[in-house]
Amino acid sequence: MLALLPEEVVAGLTLEEKASLTSGSSFWFTQGVSRAGIPEVLLTDGPHGVRKQRGGADHVGLADSVPATCFPPAVALGSTFDPDLLERVGVALGEEAAAEGVGVLLGPGINIKRSPLCGRNFEYLSEDPFVSGVLGAALVRGLQSQGVGASLKHFAANNQEADRMRVSADVDERPLREIYLRGFQRVVTEAEPWTLMCSYNKINGTYASQNRWLLTDVLRGEWGFTGLVMSDWGAVDDRVAGVAAGLDLEMPSSEGRTDAEVVAAVRDGSLAEAALDLAATRVVDLVQKALRRDGHDSGGSHRVEGAGYDVDAHHALAREVAARSVVLLENDGILPLAPTTRVAVIGAFAAQPRYQGAGSSLINPTRLDTALDGMREHAAEGTVTYAAGFVLGDTDPAAAAAQTGEELVREAVAAAAASDVAVLFLGLPAELESEGFDRADIELPAEQVALLGAVADANPRVVVVLSNGGVVRLGEVADRSAAVVEGWLLGQAGGTAVADVLYGAVNPSGRLAETIPHRLQDSPAYLDFPGERGHVRYGEGLFVGYRWYDARDLDVAHPFGHGLSYTTFEHSGLSVTPDAEGLAVSVTVTNTGERDGREVVQVYTGLASSDVARPPRELKAFGSVALAAGESRVVELRVSRADLACWDIRAGAWVVEGGSYAVEVGASSRDIRGSETVAVVGDEVAMPLTLESSLDEVMADPEAAQLVREGLSRFLDDPDMVKLIGSAPVGRILGFPGTGVVPAEVGARLERLNAERGLT
Ligand code: BGC
Repeated sequence: MLALLPEEVVAGLTLEEKASLTSGSSFWFTQGVSRAGIPEVLLTDGPHGVRKQRGGADHVGLADSVPATCFPPAVALGSTFDPDLLERVGVALGEEAAAEGVGVLLGPGINIKRSPLCGRNFEYLSEDPFVSGVLGAALVRGLQSQGVGASLKHFAANNQEADRMRVSADVDERPLREIYLRGFQRVVTEAEPWTLMCSYNKINGTYASQNRWLLTDVLRGEWGFTGLVMSDWGAVDDRVAGVAAGLDLEMPSSEGRTDAEVVAAVRDGSLAEAALDLAATRVVDLVQKALRRDGHDSGGSHRVEGAGYDVDAHHALAREVAARSVVLLENDGILPLAPTTRVAVIGAFAAQPRYQGAGSSLINPTRLDTALDGMREHAAEGTVTYAAGFVLGDTDPAAAAAQTGEELVREAVAAAAASDVAVLFLGLPAELESEGFDRADIELPAEQVALLGAVADANPRVVVVLSNGGVVRLGEVADRSAAVVEGWLLGQAGGTAVADVLYGAVNPSGRLAETIPHRLQDSPAYLDFPGERGHVRYGEGLFVGYRWYDARDLDVAHPFGHGLSYTTFEHSGLSVTPDAEGLAVSVTVTNTGERDGREVVQVYTGLASSDVARPPRELKAFGSVALAAGESRVVELRVSRADLACWDIRAGAWVVEGGSYAVEVGASSRDIRGSETVAVVGDEVAMPLTLESSLDEVMADPEAAQLVREGLSRFLDDPDMVKLIGSAPVGRILGFPGTGVVPAEVGARLERLNAERGLT
């Protein structure tokens, strides 16, 4: 069947076969048509490892899956700000998926972190669409280079877990385009994922799975997507409407129920057969892509488990990436630790790592490092002691019952008092964040905060290491510690990776891909999350993440882009040159400290004089650069013209507004080291002028002004009056008594002018 074009294969199928081809055969396989030699394709989660289930299927990660490398989840990957690293992770994921006979790995997830409460934030990269898009594209490129398809998800505006299968995300067009769809657009146009997964929710009232505007007009019409759209598992409300809208594959199987609905709809004429043909063609195209990887025609789905990739090398990569994901939030100089420092390691997470989130992305790791073991690798013999301090949900019940909470705290305090430094591993227990529900707050458990207080009373030399998928309020953590290390959920090698950072074997370079607010109440969606009665209103509009905190001039605990190093960097010699493709930015970065390190240079733009609402600054380029101690390097970055554009709701198009742009370069969104103002020539947006146009709009156009001047002189001669009625539709003013003109006649003249200009 590889010798035929997908259309030719579909032309040989019956109506029933085409309908069956466009839905799953089980939880994880597409349906094949054996008569036509079309095999099934295996789809598995994703995104940060291969979750190929053994035996009985479920879809939320409970059934056992084959061992696979658990790479750092997206929350950590986002903090690397390094597309090359994500591409390498993608390649490794592709190797593992290929070895398991997987056709499509269900990821990456690039939904925007709209609220810190979203239970699935650990599976998403950033609050910023540029970061999500650039990193998402890199991962897809890596994965697909191995002949395994990506499924970019969850398309779109799936930014909460509460009521996720029904809620309507009510979003205005600009934020929808500029924030929630922009990352998807970048990945689709730059990396061409084989598939997209539509989300469960509705967007402005219409289910994503049957949203023609989203799945066809925008995705295919505007962005040129040629791949396949599958449903999230159970996201189909009305399959027939879905096929008509551009949904190609329903997952998982409906056991023939909805296939019969599709067949009946084609028969009674309510669904065009051409729409089904298109969907079937895209499924065949996917099957062919999966087959080509193996270079034969026998199906890519049933290869031998466990072979074909280097487990040790992938673990080493997971460790390297995890260390690059760690964000050093605060440090008074206590870090890095010397091997001879006597360290009390406190907190159950040090021995029972929390390294991934719960739900469909749960990977069965090939091995699991602990921070405690990792620290012992670096420390001199006998310098590291351990006290659990508290009990986690997955603690062995016998061990948990052996000591009371008070005893655990007493033991921890004694260990801290007898050491030079206490390294306290705090975080969110697994049961607090998961796919399927949102968090109720952003607090650390009270017993952990109390433990911190007791430990810090005994020894103020405290380093806190956090394990959390969504951000937590720092408050007391920052007040009572000498250093705070954001350790996110770091995958199976996260324990040793954190130890590498604590002892300085790796100089931290991770950056926050999301703001840490002082309190939940400051966050942008606070009053509108998670909505009510089936609707969630995106009332903060464009002002998501740092865009909000900057526009409101709110102090934050740690800003977007922040992350410390054990060395220091200086930025100098900024130059910004506008050209036809956008902006060429160049800056010299010098490592001014004693250690080798890595700086993430960030470029933000803003247009204070804009005609439309705009955040004060938006990230438009970044680069990660490794510098030896004392080394200087010129970093050259580009801001593309497309990234300067806003969505113009009048023109229904991306438009670059002309004006003086501020271009800021820095080490975080609030650590701007250099800034230049450059003139950018805007795109011409010629809008037709009508009687509905305002007086100001018409008078700004000399030719149109001529056409309306007659009859308006008594208004136009009076500047106060012009101010008063400047925003009124010109037709209404012309209709006032005594103007001496017939508005419709002026309207006809304006129409002629529009026609001369080719505007309708
Ligand atoms: C999740 C998807 C996942 C699918 C299959 C759904 O519940 O939202 O992200 O890929 O299940 O497990």
